[in-house]
Amino acid sequence: MRAVTWHGRADVRVDTVPDPTIQDPTDVVVEITSSGICGSDLHLIEVMAPFMTVGDVMGHEPMGVVREVGRDVTAVKPGDRVVVPFNISCGTCWMCSQGLQSQCETTQNREQGFGASLFGYTKLYGQVPGGQAEYLRVPFGNTLPITVPEGLPDDRFVYLSDVLPTAWQAVQYAATPPGGTLLVLGLGPIGDMCTRIAHHLGIERVYASDVVPERIARATARGTDVIRSTDQDEVVGAIRDATDGRGPDAVIDAVGMEAHGSPLASIAQKASALIPDAIMAPVMKVAGVDRMAALNTAIEAVRRGGTISLSGVYGGATDPMPLSRMFDKQIQLRMGQANVWRWVPDILPILTEGDPLGVDDFATHHVPLEQAPQAYADFREKKDGAVKVLLKP
Ligand SMILES: NC(=O)c1ccc[n+]([C@@H]2O[C@H](COP(=O)([O-])OP(=O)(O)OC[C@H]3O[C@@H](n4cnc5c(N)ncnc54)[C@H](O)[C@@H]3O)[C@@H](O)[C@H]2O)c1
Ligand SMILES: [Zn+2]
Ligand SMILES: [Zn+2]
Repeated sequence: MRAVTWHGRADVRVDTVPDPTIQDPTDVVVEITSSGICGSDLHLIEVMAPFMTVGDVMGHEPMGVVREVGRDVTAVKPGDRVVVPFNISCGTCWMCSQGLQSQCETTQNREQGFGASLFGYTKLYGQVPGGQAEYLRVPFGNTLPITVPEGLPDDRFVYLSDVLPTAWQAVQYAATPPGGTLLVLGLGPIGDMCTRIAHHLGIERVYASDVVPERIARATARGTDVIRSTDQDEVVGAIRDATDGRGPDAVIDAVGMEAHGSPLASIAQKASALIPDAIMAPVMKVAGVDRMAALNTAIEAVRRGGTISLSGVYGGATDPMPLSRMFDKQIQLRMGQANVWRWVPDILPILTEGDPLGVDDFATHHVPLEQAPQAYADFREKKDGAVKVLLKP
């Protein structure tokens, strides 16, 4: 089959790789019909490159049609339409029963000290072949795939794999009180969807910050007040002015480790690109290489006693978070990979009854799998209006 494969920094290709097969009696094989490119994929072709191997199949936002099932699979059958969550979770362990699927005890990567395996991700998360491909092997066929109805386009459901539960969890973790104010940093697909969900859930005052014109336009069109800057002083100043000098009740960081405005860490990340991966991988596990600009803005902006909800991914281990400042401001910090299945029962009914979140025209680009390298480049450089790209294998 054809698949998007990792070859190095800023280098993905479409290669022919072996077709996936049923290996365990509860496996299913899904023929992929739509597969998103995510901001997290960009980390793999930059900061997280030391944890990748040439030939790794990328992608963790797929949906498609079940083509083959193992002998113990009863929940789905060939022909069923399914979305595949980005966390590989068993659905039956203690963590899964707590709604903490990203910590699944069956797929936790204990030797690496990391949580549940993820599709199309690094060695830290199991190095499992991903879904930017014609076919995908999906384990836990009775509990992992999300069955979705026929009759509506893929775009209606595909974001159940990641964008929707990630943004939903970010808004829930932010816990904006009634009548309160939420600030979302970053208007990529995750930040944009956070603002949509916040409006849908009735949060009264939703602000965001970014500098990319088409991303700003999408958010303003849906009623979000956008601060057109990513400069910490400007963003903090503007949001304080809007909140009686106090700051917002909650801030979502939907940016992560590749923030604008962290020149030193940016140099460190580029320098790490020149050091062989065998040396760099252990260093990254103990040292800090993140660009902390967005997180620092969140800490400064949030009101005293407020909540920061971190959905942007940070990769290094000992970045100097301003802990004393966080302690002094009495900030609550909540974060983590999204627990996809935890939120599916809340989100799926919203998708089948209509389109209040605007998912039908959320994607800016639908491109054939073969054009993935160009699509990655455009998304990374924020060129050609690329906000959300769906690959069509
Ligand atoms: N927690 C999870 O489960 C989960 C799931 C999916 C994605 N993510 C993470 O969420 C983050 C966003 O993903 P995305 O797909 O929207 O990515 P993206 O790269 O398209 O979006 C990031 C946006 O942030 C803006 N930005 C950069 N620096 C900023 C700053 N200092 N202040 C404000 N905005 C700034 C950029 O202009 C860009 O529009 C990534 O770190 C990704 O890895 C986490
Ligand atoms: Zn993703
Ligand atoms: Zn589990």
